[in-house]
Amino acid sequence: MKKKITLTLNGSQIHVTADSHQSLLDVLRNSLRLTGTKEGCGEGECGACTVLIDSRAVNSCLYPAFEAGGKNVTTIEGVADKKNQLATIQQAFVDNGAIQCGFCTPGMIISAKALLDTHPNPTEAEIREALSGNLCRCTGYVQIVEAVKKAANRLRDKP
Ligand code: FES
Ligand code: FES
Repeated sequence: MKKKITLTLNGSQIHVTADSHQSLLDVLRNSLRLTGTKEGCGEGECGACTVLIDSRAVNSCLYPAFEAGGKNVTTIEGVADKKNQLATIQQAFVDNGAIQCGFCTPGMIISAKALLDTHPNPTEAEIREALSGNLCRCTGYVQIVEAVKKAANRLRDKP
């Protein structure tokens, strides 16, 4: 069954037709051509497909597209600011060497954003917990955790 859904995607209201069997990830990548959100396992294990839905980090591969109707969805394409400058958290990943092949990076950044938006001063344990659903096959976890710490510091220091 097909249905037109309306959602807010990266700050803009959009309409898209989806099928009842489609995941939000499928619609984002294949209907809307927003390919920043990655498909790894397709089974909720790797976190590569993480997006924010109403400020909560969610595995979009398991999230039915129909359920996104009326919700506020943010993908990695919506994280940079309006002038297309990297967000603080993205810049911290770059500065900290936290990106190797980059496949896990969009999901990592979205999970980190979900944390920092609600916990501006997280402990290392809280950072590791927030990222525990995101796998990095390049195993760059130390740099990734350091990047989130740096982003938190920079965000707190912002005027
Ligand atoms: S692709 Fe969704 S969790 Fe792996
Ligand atoms: S940077 Fe390659 S998977 Fe994480």
